[in-house]
Amino acid sequence: MAAPSDFKPIIVGFLCNWCCYGGADLCGVSRFQYPPYLRVIRLMCSGRVDLEFIFRAFAKKADGVFIGGCHLGDCHYNPEGNYDALGNSFVAKRILADIGVNPDRLRLEWVSAGEGIRFAEVMNEFGAKIKSLGPFGSSEGRDVADLQSGLEAATQLVPYYKLVERERFRVPKRTEDGYREFFARPDYDRLFKELILDKLAMARIMGALRAGEGSAGGISQKLGLEPSRVAAHLELLSKQGIVRLEGNQAQLALAA
Ligand code: FES
Repeated sequence: MAAPSDFKPIIVGFLCNWCCYGGADLCGVSRFQYPPYLRVIRLMCSGRVDLEFIFRAFAKKADGVFIGGCHLGDCHYNPEGNYDALGNSFVAKRILADIGVNPDRLRLEWVSAGEGIRFAEVMNEFGAKIKSLGPFGSSEGRDVADLQSGLEAATQLVPYYKLVERERFRVPKRTEDGYREFFARPDYDRLFKELILDKLAMARIMGALRAGEGSAGGISQKLGLEPSRVAAHLELLSKQGIVRLEGNQAQLALAA
């Protein structure tokens, strides 16, 4: 669906105080132009941008989320916070895609305090991208309330994700290539699906059941999950005694 021509996106921007915020300031002082879509939140480091902040911004119907940090190697904090931001952006994009939110709505960039013009270029480009995607939920073709409940489930999963990250998802090389390689590895992909995405899907299915959706097909449509995936999770939940299955209908065992 094409975005309305008068659509004015809301982009939440988390900017590191030491670099990107300085770049934005220089951009303004130098009178470089960029569209007025950005709502700035100044943080001391891009590594402070928790996954929860990203999911909450979208749950409040931000059309885009921007994270701006110092260039790799220039972070003011040890161990380098901007590598944490890089890892979080890979993870957030993966979870957003699973929920049904277009991951292109999230962007991470490194901008130094001396790169006012680069800040304007990045914001012009990202603003145009978000404008072309349209309001949150429209390019996704999904009900906004359904996306919001998926984001809520993802937010609640963040503490669990952090535990798993500490034990299983440590990136061995702190270089940009090291991060890209790690997050593209098939064994990481498999483990992330098993440990995180399946858990998230189950939480969302339980939420749909609680909201009164009883058919496997209805759940699949509401959550944007493949029917086979919904069926497999319902089967598992039934074996655990959490869900009662009758043919194609399911209900929470405790609600009976
Ligand atoms: Fe700027 Fe860490 S201080 S990204």
